[in-house]
Parts: sequence; structure tokens; C-alpha cells
Amino acid sequence: MATMAPDPLPIVRTVAELRRRIRTWRDEGRSIGLVPTMGALHAGHLALVEASTRANDRTVATIFVNPKQFGAGEDLSRYPRREAEDVKAMERQGTNLVFAPTVDEMYPKRHATTVSVTGLTESLEGAHRPGHFNGVTTVVTKLLLQALADRAYFGEKDYQQLVVITRMARDLDIPVEIVGVPTVREADGLALSSRNEYLTPAERAIAPALHRGLRDTAEAIIAGTPIREAEENGRAAVLAAGFTSVDYLACRSADDLEPIETVNRPARVLAAARLGSTRLIDNIAVPCG
Ligand code: PAF
Repeated sequence: MATMAPDPLPIVRTVAELRRRIRTWRDEGRSIGLVPTMGALHAGHLALVEASTRANDRTVATIFVNPKQFGAGEDLSRYPRREAEDVKAMERQGTNLVFAPTVDEMYPKRHATTVSVTGLTESLEGAHRPGHFNGVTTVVTKLLLQALADRAYFGEKDYQQLVVITRMARDLDIPVEIVGVPTVREADGLALSSRNEYLTPAERAIAPALHRGLRDTAEAIIAGTPIREAEENGRAAVLAAGFTSVDYLACRSADDLEPIETVNRPARVLAAARLGSTRLIDNIAVPCG
């Protein structure tokens, strides 16, 4: 007996079609999870999809390389794009719908609105990537309002982004639960990132030193080393391992990213460093008490 091939994972390109499909699921009483991505998927993205499929009846993944979050001289033109492969991976992971709009669909002519979160965005990534967070918060606000999902999933690897988006959704009363998903790492500790594929073999061998630097800094702080001294040692270790430069390596309060003097509340050590032409970011939790 001939077996029917399963329907391929649908890809929609317009906000109207996305809303139509989601409305049908809502009418059936289904819960919905949203997984925003810029494509070039790796196991970290698939962990977001997995978290969504576990908690929701239907999962919508988005693929959109958002030009507004790349600064002048950043890697927008070389950012990896491989939609067909990404869609297959999302399908295997149980995604029910892919939303992959064009730039014109997301930012039609005379688009004039920017969403900006103050206070959480000026330091760390914000200090080194002017305008980056405005691009992120603008596109994520649009995606959240377009889908109106019950939950939306973001990786802890971009920890500052997660904190900013959580605050933004709360401040704007967007009816969605923002869910953070732990970072997925290679066996040697390197956090998975679409940008890892820019690394040459020699740089790839050095790259896990960023995670080691964070881990050693967190351990030193827990053992009682003063925070400023531990941060300085961490930066020195990352440079000594072969990184070209360190944009920041800093211990901050986990909920508002403020600098702290002692770990009397949950904290996070966050870092960004350059290895040749590639900029890597990572972070690690510092438990308190
Ligand atoms: O983390 C990302 O991949 C992007 O910043 C996001 C959240 C998809 C917005 O473009």
C-alpha cells in the first residue's frame, strides 16, 4: 500500500498569512510558542525549538536576518544564510510553521518607529555595538505582536538581550511569557553560535579560552577574590590564550546588569572578545550564597 508523504513544513512570508494561520490554531484552543531566529541554525536554536514544542501545542519559528541590529562595518553581508537547510532542521525538531519575511515585509516604506529600552542597553554589548539593541527590540516587538504567542524563547547565550527583551515585554504589556533557555556548548566549552563558522582552524582551537576565562573568573569570585581583580585576571587570561582583544569581561547583577561589589544576589560574568575578524560573546552564572 502506498504511504502518503507527510506535508512539508509550511513557510509563510507575510504578516497577514502568519496571523491567519495562528488565528486558526487559536480558534482550536491551541497554545503557541514562538522561536525568533536569524537562521544559520545550530543545536542552540534547536534547543529553543525543543523547549517550545515541550510546552506548547504549536511552535512557530522565525527566520529573519534583521538589518537594523547590525552596525556599519558589522557582518550583515557575510551573515550565513541557508533557509532550506534551516527549515529541514526545524521540521525534524517539531516546528509547525516557519515565518520568513522579506526586509520589505518587516520594514515597509516609511517605517519610522524604533523601540528603545533605556538603562539596560548602554553598557556591555550596547557600549560596543551602538544601535544594536534598538534594532533587536524593534524587530522582537514586531515579531511578538505579529504572532501574539503564549511564550517566546531566547537563548541565555545572548544574556543581555534576554534581560532587555524580558524588560521590554513587561514594560509594553506585551502578553507573552519570555523564556530563557540555557546555552548549548561544544564538548570543549565553546558556546554554539552561528558566528563560530567564521573561525579558522587555528582560531577555533583558541576559542574555548573565552568560556574558560569566564568559568575561572566566576570560580575566583565565589572563592572570595575581589570582583574587580577577578575580572582583570579573566581578561588577561583570555588575551594570553590568543584572543586579539577583549571588549569587556565583567561581573554584573543577573537581573538588572548593574555592576556589583559583592555577590549578595545572583550574578553573571559576561564577556565579548575578538579573535581575528570574529567577535564572540559568552556568559556564565555566578550563584549567590
Ligand atoms: O538572537 C537572535 O538571533 C536575534 O537577535 C533575534 C532575537 C532573532 C532578533 O533578530
